[in-house]
Amino acid sequence: MNFLDRNEFNFEPSEEVISTLKNFDIGKLCFYTRIYDQGKKSIFSEFLSELYGINEKQILLGYGAEDLLKKTIHYFLTDGGSKTMLIPKFSWWYYKSIASEVAGTSLQYPVYEDGNTYRYDFEGLKEMVYDIRPRILLVASPNNPTGNGLTAEEMEELVKMVPQETIVLVDEAYASFVSNDASYIKKLIETHDNIVICRTLSKFYGLPGLRMGFGFIGKGEQMERFAHYANMYLGYDRLSEDVAIAALKSDAHYRKIAEVMAEAREMYTKELSPLPGFKVYKSVANFILIKYPIELKERLQKAFAEQDYKVKFMNEPDIDTHMRITLGRREQNRLVCDTILRIAGE
Ligand SMILES: Cc1ncc(COP(=O)(O)O)c(C=O)c1O
Repeated sequence: MNFLDRNEFNFEPSEEVISTLKNFDIGKLCFYTRIYDQGKKSIFSEFLSELYGINEKQILLGYGAEDLLKKTIHYFLTDGGSKTMLIPKFSWWYYKSIASEVAGTSLQYPVYEDGNTYRYDFEGLKEMVYDIRPRILLVASPNNPTGNGLTAEEMEELVKMVPQETIVLVDEAYASFVSNDASYIKKLIETHDNIVICRTLSKFYGLPGLRMGFGFIGKGEQMERFAHYANMYLGYDRLSEDVAIAALKSDAHYRKIAEVMAEAREMYTKELSPLPGFKVYKSVANFILIKYPIELKERLQKAFAEQDYKVKFMNEPDIDTHMRITLGRREQNRLVCDTILRIAGE
């Protein structure tokens, strides 16, 4: 089966990742980490601290970004303030589910279509934030499924316009596809206390099965309490820590793969945009969103199934004539594009 439906990784891990796994000292699993004696949570958070130039105390680790999102949302929606979270109208369905697990409310803010991209409307969002006074404002950059992201300047502008009582939770699961310059993170968390940024090894570094996520938080008492809640006293999975470090050290391998994805975006845009009823949205992540004539849905689904391919057919209101396709290997992308061309031409 070719899984192009959940934004996973259809390529090989880096040599460093493979050799780290092959040569892992199994004896490490017989003991808890000792790094805790130095007041640090993991060799991975220490590594991230050096890589990003950020105090280790402002780094969180989790079982995927999922875990960090869940911890952040559960903690802040139950700490006595408002129980409301704002989320983008089109976004990962799971945010809403996490809020509902603690009887929180999630309200959607609009995401606008603008030419071949989607955009957040900052003015409208600001009004909504001051009107509703949510405990959390969640922003995904790049956003799933729309594929649009915020620049470092836009992120700064957004955080500045939000009142202190609102936590800005930024889901950056796909951010490494945009750039390897993450220097804005240090600046943001140094200057704003009410911010949590989540990243993961699952997307750019192609290790969704590893379940390793990391995050960055602002300073101050409130965030210290949250870090205390979120951190694991006995440490983290010692195999995953090593593999995660190896992955981050082999950035060049993953940048090359991101180039294959850039080619695929260009191919889909060039070949499918001219088709009547189709629209290919600009994406800065490892997937692409394509609007198609709804009458083709069943035939497309059948054609993909016959070839053992899975792509995601969206069902949510106002985005239900769209498919989200993970960018895979060249031959997979070619087959998907050809299948769409064939069905559209019948
Ligand atoms: C926007 C977004 N955030 C987070 C995740 C989950 O990431 P992780 O595997 O690190 O839990 C996904 C997975 O598809 C996602 O689309």
